[in-house]
Amino acid sequence: MRELIRLPKFLASGGVASRRAAEKLIAAGRVKVNGIPVREPGRKIDPQCDRVEVDDIPVETAGEKKYYLLFKPKGYLTTVRDPFGRPTVMDLFPEGAKDGLFPVGRLDMDTEGLLLMTNDGELAFRLMHPRFQIEKKYLATVKGVPSAEDLLQFHRGILLEEGRTAPAKVKVCSQGKRNTQLLITIHEGKKRQVKRMCQALEHPVISLKRVSLAFLNLKGLNPSAFRPLTREEIRKLSVMVGLKDRL
Ligand code: URA
Repeated sequence: MRELIRLPKFLASGGVASRRAAEKLIAAGRVKVNGIPVREPGRKIDPQCDRVEVDDIPVETAGEKKYYLLFKPKGYLTTVRDPFGRPTVMDLFPEGAKDGLFPVGRLDMDTEGLLLMTNDGELAFRLMHPRFQIEKKYLATVKGVPSAEDLLQFHRGILLEEGRTAPAKVKVCSQGKRNTQLLITIHEGKKRQVKRMCQALEHPVISLKRVSLAFLNLKGLNPSAFRPLTREEIRKLSVMVGLKDRL
């Protein structure tokens, strides 16, 4: 179980004010927890899950772990910094939230969908490691109509330049005359994997969206929006990658 701490102590450890001054800020209604003004100085919060703001500016404490689920829109790079000044996923977070944050894995600039953002290197590393077999689901609109034999190839593994992919799952969601929408489930994270798998079968990807990662999905989020993971979601993810003991 994580430790809950009293709001004035949290504000003091975040360098906002002394505990006594923090109590005054709370009494004045200037402090919000998860968007709702809080006026009781005795209120306890979970620093890993609750979002605390003073005058609408998020408060962070050193060493605090942050976990967000972002609906990455198309047109943003999955990187912390771009030397060419192009838009990055960091631009989608307010100043106070983005310190130390980085993306877990990668989505291409023209791919949209679910992207985890955190400052927890150990969890991120494990979520990306093929050993833990974290499932990722993608909705891919591909050119043409893949044959039954093409679809079987996903299950058998598809030969890419660095070797054969692990067995993937595929389901046809809809089919038109020119395009097909596939739901593809993989647990590896090779560079541009889905696009290269489809390209190898001569059905290039027209658009790609990651719709889930493990048990997480995009429900309730619009493109560019994000939300903090809940305490239970962080616990479940940690357990999935063998980090049970640290909670
Ligand atoms: N596979 C791809 O080809 N691109 C992505 O962005 C993610 C998976």
